Amino acid sequence: MQQWWKESVVYQIWPRSFADGNGDGIGDLAGIASRLDYLSSLGVDVLWLSPIYPSPQDDAGYDISDYQNIDPTFGSLEQFDALLAAVHERGMKLIMDLVVNHTSDEHPWFVESRASKDNPMRDWYWWRPAREGMNAGDPGAEPNNWGSIFSGPAWELDENTGEYYLHLFSRKQPDLNWENPEVRQAIYSMMRWWLERGVDGFRMDVINFISKDIKLPDGHVHDGSLYGDAMPYFVDGPRIHEFLQEMHREVLAGREGLITVGEMPGVTVEEAKLYTDPTRREVDMVFQFEHVQVDHGETRWDSRPLRLRDLKAVLGRWQAGLAEVGWNSLYWNNHDQPRVVSRFGDDGEHRVRSAKLLATVLHLHRGTPYIYQGEELGMTNAPFASIDDFRDIQSLNHYAEAVSTGVDPDAVLAALRVLSRDNARTPMQWDDTENAGFTTGTPWIAVNPNYKGINAQAEIADDDSVFHHYRRLIELRHTEPAVVHGDFRMLLADHDQVYAFTRGYSSTELLVLANFSGEPAAIEVPEADRWQGTELILANYPVDAAEDIQHLALRPWEARVYRGR
Ligand code: GLC
Ligand code: CA
Repeated sequence: MQQWWKESVVYQIWPRSFADGNGDGIGDLAGIASRLDYLSSLGVDVLWLSPIYPSPQDDAGYDISDYQNIDPTFGSLEQFDALLAAVHERGMKLIMDLVVNHTSDEHPWFVESRASKDNPMRDWYWWRPAREGMNAGDPGAEPNNWGSIFSGPAWELDENTGEYYLHLFSRKQPDLNWENPEVRQAIYSMMRWWLERGVDGFRMDVINFISKDIKLPDGHVHDGSLYGDAMPYFVDGPRIHEFLQEMHREVLAGREGLITVGEMPGVTVEEAKLYTDPTRREVDMVFQFEHVQVDHGETRWDSRPLRLRDLKAVLGRWQAGLAEVGWNSLYWNNHDQPRVVSRFGDDGEHRVRSAKLLATVLHLHRGTPYIYQGEELGMTNAPFASIDDFRDIQSLNHYAEAVSTGVDPDAVLAALRVLSRDNARTPMQWDDTENAGFTTGTPWIAVNPNYKGINAQAEIADDDSVFHHYRRLIELRHTEPAVVHGDFRMLLADHDQVYAFTRGYSSTELLVLANFSGEPAAIEVPEADRWQGTELILANYPVDAAEDIQHLALRPWEARVYRGR
């Protein structure tokens, strides 16, 4: 009972693009409420809602101006309570996005803080004077050389007091000062308020950024970069474990049935063991980023073809690292990542098979799987034609900065098409009616034109669809203990095309074989005689039961799961 979330699958809803209930072109709580039966037919256990709080929407809701309310664009607190009750009635749970590394600059705390140097809330954020010997506003006078994750410097000058404030993200997302105990208590009390309303836990946004090196030193300037690398001074910072343990004591301890997951860019396996060791009482699991960076070059915008061996090495290391203590979260997609079938699969000829393969490999790892809306349909990246088609602040800022420093606009656009977060943010494809059934109005971002062929209604009707494959994988987790508890053993680690592993639990063993390529892949199955004649429990091609399993030729994007005893 304690660790029920090991047996669960979490479904992420990004409300702006999920379902629009009132025809204004933006998804909302009414829309979500109208689709709960769809989610329960998929079989997921937990819903995670990306932010629905009041927000100027500079970063699509990750800039919050009131932690204890609902943005009118999405609905009201009454609607939220009704939604929560309806989720619970269906036997599902609901977790909230907790964004407490920063607030919006329109949050009353920041409005106070910026009012004057001696405001009692001044110290709730990171205020610093200009660099020594320089005047505020002069080029390069920022307190240090850190760059913002959304381009430009990480400091913004506030003319009113002549000081700068720190913002690791947009200038409308000032960083909270967690050194100040009043800040921490205010956050804990807000968290308790949501738990008392009945929510079942939190997904904690960039939570390993909250403890900074208070000296805020200059970062190393890498070749080709405009700013210093600040990551060493705020990722897994000096007091992070202390803060999370305090949060656990003050908010989570003594409450049953909760789930917490910390989003942690830059986290290492060693740190993740500390974060997720249950005896340390910090969080249940973390989102690591290494496997979604294997196709990055020097920067986030520089994409390289996937080398399967690198992906296996990374995920294999995480499986081994958290085998004894802690727990993995498993994901390919979220609102910040391009669509996995376009990224690691084949979104053309082999879309359906490769989407099923990716699902199979992920869900058979040891850990709690996360599904991002539309992933269960095999939704793809979008065919953005020009910069006007993008909405995401990170993409737009990057474009402006790169073009202003002389990079060819077409080259920047090409990179955005591959890696922009907007690929994940096009509307959910419900059916083949206008705007994919997402809205009766004009969608805030264009619907992917492939919705006529790729949509929930068509996939529900087709037993061989990506949707039904996800449904089977979820069902398998609920019925086969080896999926949840089995140990993980990587096979054929050096194979360039095939991802293969076993999961052993008590007298059951599962074998997963997956050909990550559009070419046939010949393999020698290790210990093949043990597997000959065992039960094939999941596949994305018809398989001849009498086939000689020792010398196997896997077909393009073929995935199989065998169960032996
Ligand atoms: C997280 C969110 C991302 C957001 C950022 C700042 O990485 O997932 O969408 O832009 O934090 O809150
Ligand atoms: Ca709406």
